[in-house]
Amino acid sequence: MTERQTGAWLKGLRRLVRQIGLYPTGHPLTMEALMSLRGATDDLVPEGGQVVISAMENAFYLNRTILPHVSLEYHSFIRELDERGIESITALHPVTDQDLLDLSALLANVSADFPADGSVLLNERYLTPEDLEAAPTSELRRSYVSSLDALRGVTGAMRTDGRFEMAPVVTAVEGLFEQSVSQSSASLLLSTVKSHDEYTFYHSVNACILALAIGRMIGIDRHYLIPIGVGAVLHDIGKTAVSTSVLNYPGRLDKEQWKEITIHPQEGALAILAAGGPGHEISATVAFEHHARFDGSGYPSIHREKRPHVYSRVVSVADTYDAITTRRAYRRAETPNHALDALLSGAGASYDPDLVRTFIDMMGIYPPGSILEIQGGALAVVVSKSSEPGGPLDALLVRDPTGRDIDPEPYALHPRDVSRQLLAQHVGIDPAALLENLEPSVQVG
Ligand SMILES: [Fe+2]
Repeated sequence: MTERQTGAWLKGLRRLVRQIGLYPTGHPLTMEALMSLRGATDDLVPEGGQVVISAMENAFYLNRTILPHVSLEYHSFIRELDERGIESITALHPVTDQDLLDLSALLANVSADFPADGSVLLNERYLTPEDLEAAPTSELRRSYVSSLDALRGVTGAMRTDGRFEMAPVVTAVEGLFEQSVSQSSASLLLSTVKSHDEYTFYHSVNACILALAIGRMIGIDRHYLIPIGVGAVLHDIGKTAVSTSVLNYPGRLDKEQWKEITIHPQEGALAILAAGGPGHEISATVAFEHHARFDGSGYPSIHREKRPHVYSRVVSVADTYDAITTRRAYRRAETPNHALDALLSGAGASYDPDLVRTFIDMMGIYPPGSILEIQGGALAVVVSKSSEPGGPLDALLVRDPTGRDIDPEPYALHPRDVSRQLLAQHVGIDPAALLENLEPSVQVG
């Protein structure tokens, strides 16, 4: 999949830009970053050919093909390129190390001159929106990106002045809600987007998507569901009140440090109450109770003998599912099945058993984004559960039995044909990269 190679290239470029901003060109760390970008470049640019990477309309394109997953994972990079007036980067084989260094120095604001006749060219090809591939999920991705931006804004404002504006968050969550109604399968698949660098932002938006889906399943009205979604996006905002040394502490926390961590639910709730906005008491409740367990344990511990509010219980299930399926510094990402198992084994103690059942009903035994090996060795990615009990799942076939990537094609997958479930990071497949391959009929749920 060329999306994966482009993602690796952008990751390599970002890393070299960061190193060049910190160290001189000959520094070992800079050279190491250059070597890794070198490798990614050789994978991406065909011998004797060229590639054009464009950043437009909130998305990355490789030549004319939209890269939906890369657009989300590296969307702050799109803005950085935009700020420098760069719409496209053309790389001509053979790409020289010097040109990669010059490009990185330009992006790092270390140097302003860039050769106009090298193997890397900027804005050489201008594309108009009409030139680009139509993207059926562009509205959905726009809502996702707006939510990330809103949360990034809130976090920045909390750090600088300890308060934030609620309106952009509400607008972003309303967008996610509308999309979850019109493109429910695609929005669930979108929640499989992960970011290692900005774990908290992506995780919070994913938790919001899942909470909105659960809320719709149990019939919560939009009027209440939007504030629940806002609470999901902002659930960890109180962490801005916790010192970074404690947040990033690599070992086991001592009593004092733990005490400091456990203030984040109330700090978040207070900030939400201060910000106001429609239904903000609901959002504050969700933030306040997101670590409270169904049986009243967890923290804050004012809930002994009393259950957290059902709105908080919805977000707790969504939060747990996404956290387990996301890779962290201290543990790997687990499969969707594993996350469902964890919810099931905590049902009744940590999680509301009715909501766990609803969630599993909604996601199916192989949730959207599951990567399944089918008998014979081919790989398929689940898009949505079967419309009838025991029926085939909507999936996309992505790799043939010989291990070759193929153009994704719709596939009706019978659970009995599944030989095993695989981890995305082991097979190099990003489920959300397949968004644009969904059939319109599959997207409307
Ligand atoms: Fe938290």
